[in-house]
Amino acid sequence: MYKTLIYEKKDNIGILTINRPDKLNAISNELTSELSKLLDDIEKDEGLRVLIITGKGDKAFVAGADIKELVDRDARQGRKVSQERQEIFSHIENLQIPVIAAVNGYALGGGLELALACSIRICSDKAQFGAPEVKLGIIPGDGGTQRLPRLIGLGRAMELILTGDFIDAQEAFRIGLVNKVFPLEELMEKVMELAQKIASRPPLAVRYAKEAVNRSQEGDTASGFALESYLHALSCTTEDKKEGVSAFLEKRKGKFKGK
Ligand code: COA
Repeated sequence: MYKTLIYEKKDNIGILTINRPDKLNAISNELTSELSKLLDDIEKDEGLRVLIITGKGDKAFVAGADIKELVDRDARQGRKVSQERQEIFSHIENLQIPVIAAVNGYALGGGLELALACSIRICSDKAQFGAPEVKLGIIPGDGGTQRLPRLIGLGRAMELILTGDFIDAQEAFRIGLVNKVFPLEELMEKVMELAQKIASRPPLAVRYAKEAVNRSQEGDTASGFALESYLHALSCTTEDKKEGVSAFLEKRKGKFKGK
């Protein structure tokens, strides 16, 4: 049982809810250690096809690191906490299954960085995004300075990180920070539909595709192309590939086994 997280499964889709609504789901040390344990379990769950991450309540996805814990954070602790959270968020980014952030409200600081570690971001029309760390005299430490410019470009990332200003859902959509915006009441239903669609695709192909696309964000293009052809070759060896191609040619719906 977790204190700061809720985890449930609907068929083969996992729903992880950050659960500190009275603190706008701020990321505490307790929360990161629970998250780390839960991710280990999620990684071992072979039946899982997609993970959704959201925040409890209608106000916040995650409003950043718990500012109370910043009071005593010195350089040594700062490095440790930053490295731990970078590792946890990289674990999310590199999970074999896709992860969808259902951003139901404020995604600030570490909350923005958590959303950035997910494969796809969908938000409510009330969501707000920002990297307000600079206003507290610190800088993002959970991967934001690297992931944000990759997603929205250098200039826009600079502006958000240097001003600490918030942007609303429509602006987040305009700059490609989120893929879609829905009224809050419809958010989970729409995210579930997307998750179910991805979950219905051949699981190994989805896994290899995620890995290859993630690789495009690091290293050189040549090694990305090399990984892509190896993973493409691997996908050609699967039973699901035989089934997917036959189903198309026979004009029927494919039945995939993840083999
Ligand atoms: N850490 C710890 N507590 C936080 C928090 C955070 N990052 N963000 C919000 N909270 C707490 C507030 O202290 C308040 O707790 P209280 O009721 O015990 O006083 C509660 O959550 C509600 O927040 P409140 O500020 O009253 O809501 P609001 O609607 O007036 O403002 C925000 C919402 C998001 C604009 C505001 O809470 C905020 O700026 N939060 C900090 C964001 C931030 O700087 N994050 C980056 C940290 S590195």
